[in-house]
Amino acid sequence: MVSIFSIKSEKLNGEISVPGDKSISHRALILGACAVGKTTIENLLESEDVFATLNALKLLGVYIKKYQNFWEIRGNGLGSLRNPSQILDLGNSGTGVRLLMGLVSGCDITVSFTGDVSLSARPMKRVLVPLGQSGAEISSNDYKLPVTIKGNKIPIPIKYTSSLSSAQVKSCVLLNGLTSTGNTSYSEVVKSRDHTEKMLHFMGAEISSKNLKNGTNKIKLIGLPYLKGKHFKIPNDPSSAAFPTAAALIIPNSEIKIKNVCLNDLRTGFYKTIREMGGIIRFINKKNVSGEVVGDIYVKYSKLNGIVVPKKRVPSMIDEFPIFCIVACFAEGETTMTGIEDLRNKESDRINEIVENLKKFGFFVKSTANSISIIGDKKVNPKKQIVIDSKFDHRIAMSFLCLGLVMENGIKVKNAETISTSFPSFYQIMKSLGANLKKQRD
Ligand code: S3P
Repeated sequence: MVSIFSIKSEKLNGEISVPGDKSISHRALILGACAVGKTTIENLLESEDVFATLNALKLLGVYIKKYQNFWEIRGNGLGSLRNPSQILDLGNSGTGVRLLMGLVSGCDITVSFTGDVSLSARPMKRVLVPLGQSGAEISSNDYKLPVTIKGNKIPIPIKYTSSLSSAQVKSCVLLNGLTSTGNTSYSEVVKSRDHTEKMLHFMGAEISSKNLKNGTNKIKLIGLPYLKGKHFKIPNDPSSAAFPTAAALIIPNSEIKIKNVCLNDLRTGFYKTIREMGGIIRFINKKNVSGEVVGDIYVKYSKLNGIVVPKKRVPSMIDEFPIFCIVACFAEGETTMTGIEDLRNKESDRINEIVENLKKFGFFVKSTANSISIIGDKKVNPKKQIVIDSKFDHRIAMSFLCLGLVMENGIKVKNAETISTSFPSFYQIMKSLGANLKKQRD
């Protein structure tokens, strides 16, 4: 087990690159396996979550190999997966398990899935219900892992309306619909990240989406597309970039630049909100790379004001709420977030972990089943080191380490190895900017 300590740092300065985007990395591997021919991937995120998906695909019979600076997948086309010789262990990865469940449900195979303690506690009903409707036979206890799925070779085309705004559910349904002879339609209340749709389109699928009058996003996918192997150049992860961004915003005299980040609007709600709070954040050198907007993020220490986060913006900053709450602690006045109930279903119950851990520092913070409110207070500075446990949640660990960077007596985050699920170089990158971090094996 590893603990990481962070303590007051003078300032952050410099130019960095965070690793490749996690969502796009999972999808590039999975879609590469569905294509005909070679898919090559540059800048794949080499983290535990992505390796869990990669190893699961290998067990499903997919050829994947690493070359010096790219990965190659040899796809055999839709439905070409084979029965794995063992249960697929997706570790901590919700995206990995939910997307792969969609994929195998459209193949003539039987697959069992498991995961770590955190993933085993997370709800799978949201994906198992639509997969059941498409004809997959599912066995589970209360829709939790372990789950066994006997796929349906020719899935029944479904028209699914989800009450959640979840890119994992959407992608699961779309992946399942790939092998259907009919058309799949999927509607979501607020548009969630659209990487799957963009990548499927890029590979040759007929997929379209429209915004209905009531705000619903409706997607239509024509079954049995011919997906061509492609080259994907993965942009860097805006969710990982949010940690150095937040630290630079709250540590006086900081000024940093983060290179080549995915700036898809459906991923940048955190940055937009911080700007509305008065934060100095600029997106520069924007360009289009493999269908995604990519650019550099310039951030400077800023004086911030509290805000009410618009409910509609929640999906575009869903993973950034833990680090956003840390920033809100240093804003003038109150910051309120509502409609965030799904944070309770992430790698940990994030509402609970954020609130209980911030209270240990003495911040004034309140929560309900679906909201958090925080009153900013720059004077908070505990007289002793605060200790927290990551609860197997990488974003809780990194968020509180960023908070420690402005505390005289610092913070100790136990079970910090979980950071490797999404951002294995967090420690080195933050140190290179001037963050005071120390590691200890327990
Ligand atoms: C993801 C979607 C989001 C996000 C997760 C990655 C994806 O989950 O929280 O980290 O890659 O599709 P939900 O779909 O549950 O909102």
